[in-house]
Amino acid sequence: APIASKFEIRSDGCYLITGAFGGFGKVIANWLVNCGARHLVLSSRNGASTPEAEAFVNSLLDRNVTVQIVKADAGSSDDIARLLAEIRNSAQSLRGIFHLAMFIDDAPLAALNRERMTSVIGPKALGAWLLHEGTRDIALDCFVMFSSVSSIFGNPAQGNYAAANAFLDSLAHHRHALGLPALSINWGVLGGEGYVARNERVAEFLAKQGIRELSPGEVLAIVESSLRAGSPQVAAIRVDWAKWRTFFRGMQGNPLLERIFAAVEGHDSAGVVSDWRSKIESAAPAEKETVIAEAVREVVGSVLRVKPDTLRDDQPLTDLGLDSLMGVEIENSLEAAIGVALPPTSLMRARTIGQIATLIAGHVGGTAPSASPPTSPAPAPEPAPSSIEVDLDALSIEQIDGLLGGDDDLVLEASPHV
Ligand SMILES: NC(=O)c1ccc[n+]([C@@H]2O[C@H](COP(=O)([O-])OP(=O)(O)OC[C@H]3O[C@@H](n4cnc5c(N)ncnc54)[C@H](OP(=O)(O)O)[C@@H]3O)[C@@H](O)[C@H]2O)c1
Repeated sequence: APIASKFEIRSDGCYLITGAFGGFGKVIANWLVNCGARHLVLSSRNGASTPEAEAFVNSLLDRNVTVQIVKADAGSSDDIARLLAEIRNSAQSLRGIFHLAMFIDDAPLAALNRERMTSVIGPKALGAWLLHEGTRDIALDCFVMFSSVSSIFGNPAQGNYAAANAFLDSLAHHRHALGLPALSINWGVLGGEGYVARNERVAEFLAKQGIRELSPGEVLAIVESSLRAGSPQVAAIRVDWAKWRTFFRGMQGNPLLERIFAAVEGHDSAGVVSDWRSKIESAAPAEKETVIAEAVREVVGSVLRVKPDTLRDDQPLTDLGLDSLMGVEIENSLEAAIGVALPPTSLMRARTIGQIATLIAGHVGGTAPSASPPTSPAPAPEPAPSSIEVDLDALSIEQIDGLLGGDDDLVLEASPHV
């Protein structure tokens, strides 16, 4: 698909790829040519040193592309200075940089000495910085860095690699703040070409973790859409979260993952959910509210990531860090768990577990002993007679936040709605 007007590849500009003879360097080079690029600078330490790399260069020449090959260690300031000087001497002005150079040397933290840090951080992080510094006066259209999810989630034995990629992510934001083009993409596993495709055991190991490959076509579609969107950082990973979570047990507390895990949990516990409904239905009328409170504690605990038995019935949920999105999640989870659709404003009125339980009991007949036989299905979700409905559409986000945050004045000001 053609690239949108906001971002274009120019036939009269030149494009630099570092790590150009690696798997995805070649994928990016071909994509640039397909998008209209006619001048490429391909760089790595060894250049086109293999028959395969030579054949690749010939295939580009056959397509009338001018190819400048510059051998350079991306972690060396002399080499990058020479590389940029050669580009400045060429006829076309530099329009884009794709920084893919990487060197991997996995080791547990205790074995990471200065040399093993430098060899990995050098080409990626220092290389990116040198390219940034050396091109600040050039009006680039793009500055793309291939990063990895290791900088977001960490990865066993990849402290050096994760640190290098974290630098790329920060540099993208730094450049963005300076008004310079920047994109760092945190890839999961890239398949078909490149490092993982050459290392079957790595692919198998990652598959066990639940991480599956993105194809070169998917990679290019993501590069393209991210460039169009102008985002400084994008993460792209194909993952089976349930599998991944069992592998990365130590990650449970990662705030970024909490919500994903909570959703996976909701999925996993679908069977348990209907249990609550039948437990409530078969409880003696006087016991119903207690059973409901137990169910509410479980749902709230899973959304707020706290142990259900540490939750007190009279504790305001806002004290436990409830925000508006969590409020919506709790309402949805309660509906799934107990089979009662609460009016959308329930949590605004009922702020503690005890109050929520009372509200639900009102819906399922728990507060009216002998009102309905225990075996009857839960009644249709009608608002409790005493409830004051708030027209959410008529409120601003701030007002809704205020309501969820416990601002009594706002509750009173909200207009009743049937
Ligand atoms: N493959 C994946 O699953 C995956 C996942 C996440 C992120 N990524 C990122 O995607 C990028 C491309 O990955 P890939 O699989 O295509 O890698 P690759 O096939 O291993 O290619 C790496 C390239 O980097 C060059 N290189 C190594 N050390 C260098 C140095 N000191 N200075 C300059 N160039 C150097 C290599 O050529 P020479 O040896 O000739 O220098 C080679 O061209 C990397 O930045 C990687 O971190 C890949």
